[in-house]
Amino acid sequence: MTTPPFLRQGVRTMPQSAMPQPSTTPPQAAVPPFAVIPGAQVQHTLQGRERQIVDLVESTYRLHAAGDSVNPPSYFLRFPDRPTARIIALPASIGGQVRVDGLKWISSFPDNVSSGIPRASAVLILNDHDTGYPLACLESSIISASRTAAMAASAADWLSRHRRRPTRVGFFGTGLIARYIHAYLTATGWNFDQIGIHDVSPDHAAGFHSYLEHTDAAPRITTHDSPEQLIRSSDLVVFATIAGRPHVTDPAWFDHNPLVLHMSLRDLAPDIVLASANIVDDVDHCLKADTSPHLTEQLTGNRDFLTGTLDDVMTGRVALPEDRPVVFSPFGLGVLDLAVGKHVYDEVARAGHLHVVEDFFHELSRYG
Ligand SMILES: NC(=O)c1ccc[n+]([C@@H]2O[C@H](COP(=O)([O-])OP(=O)(O)OC[C@H]3O[C@@H](n4cnc5c(N)ncnc54)[C@H](O)[C@@H]3O)[C@@H](O)[C@H]2O)c1
Repeated sequence: MTTPPFLRQGVRTMPQSAMPQPSTTPPQAAVPPFAVIPGAQVQHTLQGRERQIVDLVESTYRLHAAGDSVNPPSYFLRFPDRPTARIIALPASIGGQVRVDGLKWISSFPDNVSSGIPRASAVLILNDHDTGYPLACLESSIISASRTAAMAASAADWLSRHRRRPTRVGFFGTGLIARYIHAYLTATGWNFDQIGIHDVSPDHAAGFHSYLEHTDAAPRITTHDSPEQLIRSSDLVVFATIAGRPHVTDPAWFDHNPLVLHMSLRDLAPDIVLASANIVDDVDHCLKADTSPHLTEQLTGNRDFLTGTLDDVMTGRVALPEDRPVVFSPFGLGVLDLAVGKHVYDEVARAGHLHVVEDFFHELSRYG
């Protein structure tokens, strides 16, 4: 029998007696400890770091565009007995300084809302670059909301650099993502003269209204019963609904050429997409799963309606028109979750606050 594994300097290693001879085998690899990072730690780590997270998300986009990532298509697990529900797997690998692999596993069960619990829940698994061992399981709805909001704030900035800067924002759908996007816009220097809100649920709209009233620089806030009024009175429109198919169909509502952050991806009819300049995060990812750009591709049989990616805009490869709406439809890449998750992991580890699950990996002497 070999001696059981032991912990040295916080890292579980194979015992000396079980080590193979260095001359004939590769160097000994350490089995990393496995940690669980709850939502409270994630939130504590990310709070007040909005600017830093936007920078991290932008540098991750650049890495992805340069090919230093692996980001296969997301897998949508659906259920015949629960047609409105889904769980999405987003596996990814990221290089650069981050060097980590992993999986985001995020579920959406809309019926939860009527039972009084949030619709979406998520975990993120980080895998060690060198050994493949899972390093940590992180609560990930906050990571997901933060990277999504960072992506929205980044897009709002880059897509309005050569157009009139928006001063009137409208939130179409007022759940968690809308709240995070508002927080990230504010933390990255946006000031609005007015904020419009619209939601199919008057209760959700009222809750968001109350949240906005308690923020530092609350401007004029208007709740619109009519979606048309919301869009016509906003030059930055944020879609964060859970619509499964287009419900905004009239291009005339966009005659004032707003900047549209189409975070929920399925709100706009193809006619509106066709009348706009369209920016995505990743073309192949975004033209899937019945998103509005996907429906537009199916309708037209081509991708000519796409103007480019956010990276194209950041590097100056594409310019945006002033005389058309600009619509940003980001599919949301797993590499962004990995980058933000690894940042949280590193910060919690640096502070010495990792909750390590002792003996998570067992049976480490497999070959006699
Ligand atoms: N693109 C990305 O990377 C990304 C990342 C995370 C979330 N999302 C998407 O963002 C959306 C919002 O997420 P959330 O966590 O805030 O959801 P949520 O359930 O907390 O809130 C959604 C809100 O939209 C409202 N709503 C639903 N249908 C509507 C409609 N037709 N018109 C107006 N309001 C409507 C609901 O009443 C609710 O208040 C989801 O579609 C989610 O999939 C996208």
